Amino acid sequence: MPSSHFFNGWKYYLCGMMSEQFFLPKYEPKVPSSQTVIWSAPSNIALVKYWGKKPVQLPANASVSFTLSNCKTITEVTFFAKKLKDDKHSFDVLVDDVSNESFRPKMESFFTKAQEYLPFLSSGHFQIRTTNTFPHSSGIASSASGMAALALCLMSIEKSLDPTMSEDFFLAKASFLARLGSGSACRSIKGSMVAWGSHPAVSNSSDLFGVPLRQPWHEFFLNYQDTILIVEEGQKQVSSTAGHDLMHNHPFAQQRFEQAETNLSDLITAMTQGDLDEFIGIVESEALTLHAMMMTSNPAYVLMQPATLSIITAVWNFRKSTQIPICFTLDAGANVHLLYPKSVKSEVLSFIEQELVAYCQNGRYICDELGEGSIQLNVYPNS
Ligand code: DP6
Repeated sequence: MPSSHFFNGWKYYLCGMMSEQFFLPKYEPKVPSSQTVIWSAPSNIALVKYWGKKPVQLPANASVSFTLSNCKTITEVTFFAKKLKDDKHSFDVLVDDVSNESFRPKMESFFTKAQEYLPFLSSGHFQIRTTNTFPHSSGIASSASGMAALALCLMSIEKSLDPTMSEDFFLAKASFLARLGSGSACRSIKGSMVAWGSHPAVSNSSDLFGVPLRQPWHEFFLNYQDTILIVEEGQKQVSSTAGHDLMHNHPFAQQRFEQAETNLSDLITAMTQGDLDEFIGIVESEALTLHAMMMTSNPAYVLMQPATLSIITAVWNFRKSTQIPICFTLDAGANVHLLYPKSVKSEVLSFIEQELVAYCQNGRYICDELGEGSIQLNVYPNS
């Protein structure tokens, strides 16, 4: 029978064949002592997009993302052991220290899915305090960083029950649990590039959790920058979860899933060889294909705004006239992520100030770059 310790040293052979069973607890059911844990987890931006899923939270195709550095969620979980055990989990969520019920349905569904893997969830009450380093109104999705930070906190509590758990297992299970909350969250545990989904070009890859890609990337990609142009603040009109659902019976779904698999292999080759033209071509095609899927869903919808298209056109013109290797990507919204090597940062920032800031809502943009992943903290901000 597999144990958590078996994971060490065997991960490269096991990931492809691993099943959910691997993450079931291997210790006798126990109630942890009351405790507080704090984790910070970053946001991520997909280069090859996850769009379409199978039950339960398994990707229809493999995806890969850059882990960010500045945009992150910090979450503190305080566990209060219950005097009398019942079979129901209970939690409160404070966002920026204000009780927030809008997160409850997604959290409720996460706790229900995670219960089997963390039996202690029903043996106490959880007080969850969470804050983002990016403004809630910025239109940047916090579900990836938020679910990753929460999963890491729960893993720290589980580790108090099983102190011999290896670090590899801890991180893989945190990613596995984060995925149950939001698919892309499984790519927010480690840095600086993470693949999720079983793929022949990524030897230790799995549909169950994200794995860091440790290729010897060409130096162009070591300090890559991501400047997020805020075209539309606030909530997006169609959730990603609803968008994934529309890939069922989508007329182009099969071709799209195959394209993503090819793009992932080609992207790894381009990044290893330092082929920026190929990198740019794949990343922009992935972004536009994602939105093309939305526009050809039934019902169809459009998340890009006129300003999104103006920015894309301006980026293409700037790249053509300057030969500066900047490209864009999009998540499931109107905001534009500009990706470029650090060596051209000052030219790109001048371009943003002179030409692009006019398209940003309230002139807002956020400068970010590749990051190394989540970290455990001792103190919650401002406490
Ligand atoms: C466009 O992970 O937000 O950002 O699994 O339903 O929570 P759920 O969806 P989510 O989808 C992210 C979609 C995307 C592409 C990506 O991050 O790969």
